[in-house]
Amino acid sequence: MDFGLKGLVVMITGGGSGIGAEAAKSFAALGAKVAVVDKNLEGALVVSAAIREAQGIATAYETNVTDEASVNATVEQIQRDLGSVSVLVNNAGFTRDMKITRMSVADWESVIDVVLKGAFLCSRAVLPGMAEADYGRIVNISSRAHLGNPGQANYSSAKAGIIGFTRALSLEWGKHHITVNAVAPGIINTSAVTNLPHYQKIRESAERTTPIPRIGEVDDVANAIVFLGSRLASYITGETLHVTGGRY
Ligand SMILES: NC(=O)c1ccc[n+]([C@@H]2O[C@H](COP(=O)([O-])OP(=O)(O)OC[C@H]3O[C@@H](n4cnc5c(N)ncnc54)[C@H](O)[C@@H]3O)[C@@H](O)[C@H]2O)c1
Repeated sequence: MDFGLKGLVVMITGGGSGIGAEAAKSFAALGAKVAVVDKNLEGALVVSAAIREAQGIATAYETNVTDEASVNATVEQIQRDLGSVSVLVNNAGFTRDMKITRMSVADWESVIDVVLKGAFLCSRAVLPGMAEADYGRIVNISSRAHLGNPGQANYSSAKAGIIGFTRALSLEWGKHHITVNAVAPGIINTSAVTNLPHYQKIRESAERTTPIPRIGEVDDVANAIVFLGSRLASYITGETLHVTGGRY
């Protein structure tokens, strides 16, 4: 099957860890040139080195997706290093869970900013190049939490917002053959989850209540990202694909 990714430039935010790192490796294995973008340069360097060791093409970039200048400079540098971005994966994100009455404005803004402002800034920076090429793919990482989780007012709002953002961009850019979709994972086995103090409880509950009785692995999500980021998904846009083992 031809994913049509050979030689295309793929930019993945939060590519230095977890789901983003796995997606970066999967795109590279299909012949894409991968820009591994992360606030944590060390993580991005490890991932890009692993890709190069496997004969793939990848470069690491230290970028804060909430910072306009940092995002614009990175996209310009990627253009010089690898070429114009054809596929953008807005994956950077994190949680800061607590009851809303304990949540500071900084707790609220930090999560909203990485997820929503980050996706806005990165998409805005790459869309003109995609329009010029008359081809593009944007895959935004939402979460099953968009349905609303207690203790996650900030995160649930951001992850619901990213679905609206996805739909708006899909309508705005379809005429340039640019598709914009979201992937909404359930509980996935990354350090963001395994480091939680109540991880064992989360895992047991997921195994009990998920139709496919296990937590998800990073490749479960990366496979969905790669499909939506490929030529195979040319006639799919504005959608949210849930990767939750049926828990949605
Ligand atoms: N793991 C899960 O269960 C799960 C479930 C649903 C959705 N998600 C979403 O998937 C995405 C990846 O999650 P993960 O579990 O792989 O997490 P992770 O913590 O392993 O990776 C997230 C990466 O984002 C980077 N990042 C954070 N803030 C950044 C910023 N301002 N600029 C640039 N990079 C930044 C981090 O350095 C990190 O490398 C996130 O958007 C997360 O919300 C995860």
